[in-house]
Amino acid sequence: MENKLKILIVDDEVNLLKTLSDILSKNGYDVSVARDAHTALRTLEKGGFDIALLDVRMPQMNGVELLEKIKQEHRGIEVIIMTAYGTIDTAIKSIKLGAYAYMLKPLDIDEMLTNIQKIVKLKALKDEARFLQWQLEEQHGYKNIIGNSGAIKRVVDTIKKVSASDSTVLTMGGSGTGKEMVSDAIHYSSRRYAKPYVKINCAAFPENLLESELFGYEKGAFTGADKQKKGKFEVADGGTLFLDEIGDMPLAMQAKLLRVLEKGEFERLGGNEVIKVNVRFIAATNQNLEKMIKEKYFRSDLFYRLNTVIINLPSLVERKEDIPLLIGHFIENFSTEMNKKAPKVVKEAMDLIMSYPWPGNVRELANAIERATIFCEDGVIRPSDLPPNIQAGHAEVPSAETSGDLTLEVLEKRHISNTLKHTKGNKNEAARVLGIHRETLYKKIKKFNIKDV
Ligand SMILES: Nc1ncnc2c1ncn2[C@@H]1O[C@H](COP(=O)(O)OP(=O)(O)O)[C@@H](O)[C@H]1O
Ligand SMILES: [Mg+2]
Repeated sequence: MENKLKILIVDDEVNLLKTLSDILSKNGYDVSVARDAHTALRTLEKGGFDIALLDVRMPQMNGVELLEKIKQEHRGIEVIIMTAYGTIDTAIKSIKLGAYAYMLKPLDIDEMLTNIQKIVKLKALKDEARFLQWQLEEQHGYKNIIGNSGAIKRVVDTIKKVSASDSTVLTMGGSGTGKEMVSDAIHYSSRRYAKPYVKINCAAFPENLLESELFGYEKGAFTGADKQKKGKFEVADGGTLFLDEIGDMPLAMQAKLLRVLEKGEFERLGGNEVIKVNVRFIAATNQNLEKMIKEKYFRSDLFYRLNTVIINLPSLVERKEDIPLLIGHFIENFSTEMNKKAPKVVKEAMDLIMSYPWPGNVRELANAIERATIFCEDGVIRPSDLPPNIQAGHAEVPSAETSGDLTLEVLEKRHISNTLKHTKGNKNEAARVLGIHRETLYKKIKKFNIKDV
């Protein structure tokens, strides 16, 4: 039997020690014995024990005191208390101190074996939960945030601190600087890690849809509302809600959001029932909210409610020293994924990368390295493996292709699609780039039947 469960029996009665240890050994457990508390503690120091069975009345230190010490020093060990002199008081005290069970002597061996089996199952569940948490942290925790620059170290430091609290966090930075990654790291390092983690991109919905996505609605609230639907606030109850592109939230919605942030309560659309939720909010934006406040596009009261903790993510060119580290990280990830040996980057390619302005920040760098890992030959990334605009040394600007036989409509559709691709589907941003009103953009998207990008 691999990985035998290790049990320590502590009792000053030699006969009991012998009988019980024989039975447990026969049942496949790895058993040690001790005749007093001090010996027991020395034995536990060796490590690897899963369960301790403790007699109560013993010379020097009694079993209940020993239980307390074990729970302080070896938290993973489950304890069963056994006594011939049972009193309600010791029973209650033992359970309060964290004993798994309290058994009376003479011992019922079947009951003892059942208790031990239950502990085995409990341990397996705990191990699994710990493994799942470890896996989540491994994939999404702050350890994945690569960078040695002072700015990134400060970001990681802040994440560690705010993870322990429920405070609202506002993350600001350009597209691809890692805002969503920061939100992931906060959620998965917080107490809420096993609770819902819900994300919504405020720029991806027209106003009325955004409202019903966030608040949910009652049956019959509007045409098409054929059944009740929970909104993101409710779905995220107990957990974290990530409000991406909060700068793109329409003003009327900002006022409604403020109430939820302040009171933790709201009503579904078309409903009267006040719903209370416990949600931790993390917001992100690539816009200059202070400037938007001046221009009256963003409510200052909402800003002050959100800015308890602000995390500013620097652009990639502001922390060039992190680029080599990030390259190493992405090469490692992509080559493992592609089952390829990790390629080296030649100096000429490295020079191009270091002098390129990276308007799309880490996201753009990750994409460039992914492409280079695919295209490179002989385990070497050369300038020719990099995207053409990086080889040319300048950032790509969105532009519609022009060709003699294209109609204006086709050109318009293409230009809108391309712009949407560049703004990663952010319609407010696209409307701004295109110089048209948000509503006009929605109409055109519908007219040209442009699919989500
Ligand atoms: N410091 C970093 N270390 C490693 N990967 C990063 C870092 N910053 C960003 N990334 C990666 O870059 C991509 C874009 O990050 P994301 O958080 O989506 O940016 P944003 O939300 O600011 O647009 C993601 O794949 C993310 O994993
Ligand atoms: Mg993002």
